[in-house]
Amino acid sequence: PAPGWTTRADVVIVGSGIAGLTAALRLRGQVDKILVVTKTVLNAGSTQWAQGGIAAALGPGDTPEQHEADTLVAGAGACDRDAVRVLVNEGPEAVRELIALGTNFDHTADGELSLTREGGHHRDRIAHAGGDATGAEIQRALIAAIEAAPDIEVIQHALAVDLLLGPDESGTTGIAGVTLHVIGEGERDGVGAVHSRAVVLASGGLGQVFSQTTNPSVATGDGMAIALRAGATLRDLEFVQFHPTVMYLGPDSRGQQPLISEAVRGEGAFLVDDEGNRIMRGVHELADLAPRDVVAKTIMKRMLETGRPHMWLDARHLGAEFWERRFPTILATARSYGIDPVTQLIPVAPACHYASGGVRTDLDGRTGIPGLYATGEVACSGVHGANRLASNSLLEGLVFSRRIAEVLPGELGAWREPAADRRTAGLVAGDIRRELQETMTSRAGVLRSATGLAEGAAVLDKLAGHAAETVDQASWEDTNLLTISAALAGAAALREETRGSHWRDDFPERDDADWAGHFDVTMDDGAT
Ligand code: SIN
Repeated sequence: PAPGWTTRADVVIVGSGIAGLTAALRLRGQVDKILVVTKTVLNAGSTQWAQGGIAAALGPGDTPEQHEADTLVAGAGACDRDAVRVLVNEGPEAVRELIALGTNFDHTADGELSLTREGGHHRDRIAHAGGDATGAEIQRALIAAIEAAPDIEVIQHALAVDLLLGPDESGTTGIAGVTLHVIGEGERDGVGAVHSRAVVLASGGLGQVFSQTTNPSVATGDGMAIALRAGATLRDLEFVQFHPTVMYLGPDSRGQQPLISEAVRGEGAFLVDDEGNRIMRGVHELADLAPRDVVAKTIMKRMLETGRPHMWLDARHLGAEFWERRFPTILATARSYGIDPVTQLIPVAPACHYASGGVRTDLDGRTGIPGLYATGEVACSGVHGANRLASNSLLEGLVFSRRIAEVLPGELGAWREPAADRRTAGLVAGDIRRELQETMTSRAGVLRSATGLAEGAAVLDKLAGHAAETVDQASWEDTNLLTISAALAGAAALREETRGSHWRDDFPERDDADWAGHFDVTMDDGAT
């Protein structure tokens, strides 16, 4: 559709979690007009929901090298070492800056930063806030800083539809802006265009591809899909992390499910089956604190062996006082579903949690498209490899957004004249989501096989035929979910091995001889 309204900004930032707001705040004063757009409201993204915390080598005896080693082991041989070094070396300073911005992390009785442990970490290095409300506190501090910066414009209820591209004076195609579908009032309502010299994608992940996820409803892979349509490269899409301990609410529960943070295991909780056997004993030297993929697979295996829909987390011995102080959010949520973790076992099962892959970037967040940058969960700098280390995700958004703000101002080119809006065909109806999610969960979820992935691909092909009759946000979102699902399932079918969070029933071993590389996906040629 032709844009109904237009506006201009030097830089548009798509997304308002830790990655987007950090980019905006760091770019402030360096470029003239910064516009943040967000699909619903500023705090609706995944940052708000992060529980465990943010990892950085801040504790006595800890070093970036040890953080690097743990990140590389969790990543199962698929991390980009340079990206990991950037993350761990710049992490401590970035977290200190977050504290200076006004984020209230928890402290010990001695006034030191309180640091905990999660799966795959050999040291206590996870800073947390409000006990288990770390993301909410970070989001609060960032929003307060944005509200105190009236020169940064914000448009809420604005879904990014597509990137606008155009040639510069030398004929090189690059970013000319972004089209938005705004549910607003007055002048900016419906589909419009922002002309810009750069776009920073910070729009988060794709959890809604699956039936059960820890991600909020806004996580529909929009940034990855629009980047792909514009000609950017996606990488490592098959590496979708399933969090081991998501509260099981019954077979019919869909959408966002309550997370039981790994920090609960970090403080001593453990996993048991129906008979009370500790299922992580003897599986890994770190037992219940093994990397996330190991714990998720062990739970799934026991579920398959026993025919049960979940395992149990036993955290009763932590006691009421500790629960109330350390995990108030989880305690209240579990109780609201009728489970009291102080006296009862918590039913848990794996659910989709994090996209380790995304829009391929270099170490400064540049994509292959001039003027297009990506940061946070939407991006793939290679920092997570095949399985993200716990609490490295908030850190990733923070560190790589700071780096983008270092390079972007010096790289801003002239305004490009946007070529015609490229979106014409292919929009699917906004009612395919349930079938899509069920297909992806059963065929491309935690356990995959060639047969299942082929069956899944056939269903996705069929769903692609459900053309949209009305153009609304649901149809843009479902189109994005379908685009990303097809790319993800395609990459998962190609990777004939088990590595990190990619688990193939028919190829159960890791195969470094044949599969140590990466799958890049582009719109023209599919997975390569
Ligand atoms: C958690 O609190 O268990 C989630 C931490 C993470 O995903 O990094």
